[in-house]
Amino acid sequence: VKKTIAIGLIALAVLAVAGLLAGSGRGQNKDAAPKADKKEPPTSRQVLMRDKLTYANKALDGLSVEDFAKIAESGKMMRMISKAASWYVIPTDEYLRFSKNFQEQAQDLELHANEKNLDAAALDYMRITMTCVQCHKYMREVRSKEQKQ
Ligand code: HEC
Repeated sequence: VKKTIAIGLIALAVLAVAGLLAGSGRGQNKDAAPKADKKEPPTSRQVLMRDKLTYANKALDGLSVEDFAKIAESGKMMRMISKAASWYVIPTDEYLRFSKNFQEQAQDLELHANEKNLDAAALDYMRITMTCVQCHKYMREVRSKEQKQ
């Protein structure tokens, strides 16, 4: 019982602090604005890169409930993202190969969703996920080599 009360008190304290923060933000907008911006805003590339995760999640969502429109849209968006200029981070053959694989897999996902072929789309999703992991692994290797130089 003591534990529950303690947790309750902590929750209340958190709420109170949150309320104070929200209140101060509203009261003195001039001071609050730069504080909120202290954390660097994401670059357009970061936003683009994060969107991949959004659409990959959406694809899984669609696959789970057999929503082919949702799957097709995620495939299309992932393909479009991977064609944007800021997608090309390093000009190596490996990076280009991962990019090309990703583009083809995203295209296949869209195609198979439009054909209402759930099994093929699920396989495409798995291949896409493998490519996410492989490309990120490769990027980490490249960056750790850069740091050593
Ligand atoms: C062809 C290579 C490649 C593929 C494939 C790839 N990524 Fe990335 N991803 C990158 C690179 C490069 C960055 C880092 C960008 C930077 O540091 O400027 C990144 C960054 C990210 C980030 C972090 C963005 C941030 O800075 O907050 C997320 C999340 C992400 N990717 C998700 C995914 C997901 C999910 C997939 C698969 C659906 C995927 N990526 C496929 C190359 C790739």
